Amino acid sequence: MKPDVADLRRDYTRDGLLENQAPDEPLSLFATWFEQAVEIESTEANAMMLASVDTNGQPHLRTLLLKGMDDRGFVFFTNYQSAKGQQLQANPQAAMTFWWHDLERQVRIEGQVEQISADESDAYYHSRPVGSRLGAWASPQSQVIANREVLENNLQQLQQQYADLAPERPPHWGGFRLKPQLIEFWQGRPSRLHDRLNYRLVDGQWQRERLAP
Ligand SMILES: Cc1cc2nc3c(=O)[nH]c(=O)nc-3n(C[C@H](O)[C@H](O)[C@H](O)COP(=O)(O)O)c2cc1C
Repeated sequence: MKPDVADLRRDYTRDGLLENQAPDEPLSLFATWFEQAVEIESTEANAMMLASVDTNGQPHLRTLLLKGMDDRGFVFFTNYQSAKGQQLQANPQAAMTFWWHDLERQVRIEGQVEQISADESDAYYHSRPVGSRLGAWASPQSQVIANREVLENNLQQLQQQYADLAPERPPHWGGFRLKPQLIEFWQGRPSRLHDRLNYRLVDGQWQRERLAP
């Protein structure tokens, strides 16, 4: 039976987010929420949507995996020559959104990206399974290819080439760090009166405010 889209809705009752539960800065709250998401979410807790903007002002969104976070920001890995790689190098303004369905939580992060150091990219690249390391060489991400065989042939050749050698990191593959200027925490509540605590970095200090849902 065809679902009635307009009738699909859910009431959020699991938790709340009040000022007295929230620290003065957002990074420790993100770490707590992320730990809870890893424990409770049925899907990949580190999956998020990353937005970039092209030179025409057209935004582009896609799912990526978060692979690191610390005081400096939020790290993900990709092909620097992909559509997103080129967009981020031309315009570093970016945003990421996590939707943790089971926890009824969303986190939005905005700021500028920078490429992480070659050493950091090397360290992560070499921690990956060999199939993923060769995949980074085999796929000209975002380019039009004639068919699937192109990828499979590339991979086969690479498997032969690197049969007795550890593959080096492709120079066009590595990490970006999103340095946050804004982090918003959203906790679903009943009757659509959700909690939204917004942290903005103003002159190097985090300021917290409540937004209407
Ligand atoms: C669950 C999931 C995780 C993904 N993780 C990554 C990732 O970490 N890095 C990446 O480059 N692409 C990842 N992708 C693929 C991207 O969504 C996207 O298709 C690809 O990066 C090309 O995007 P672009 O053409 O806008 O550059 C992931 C896709 C899904 C569905």
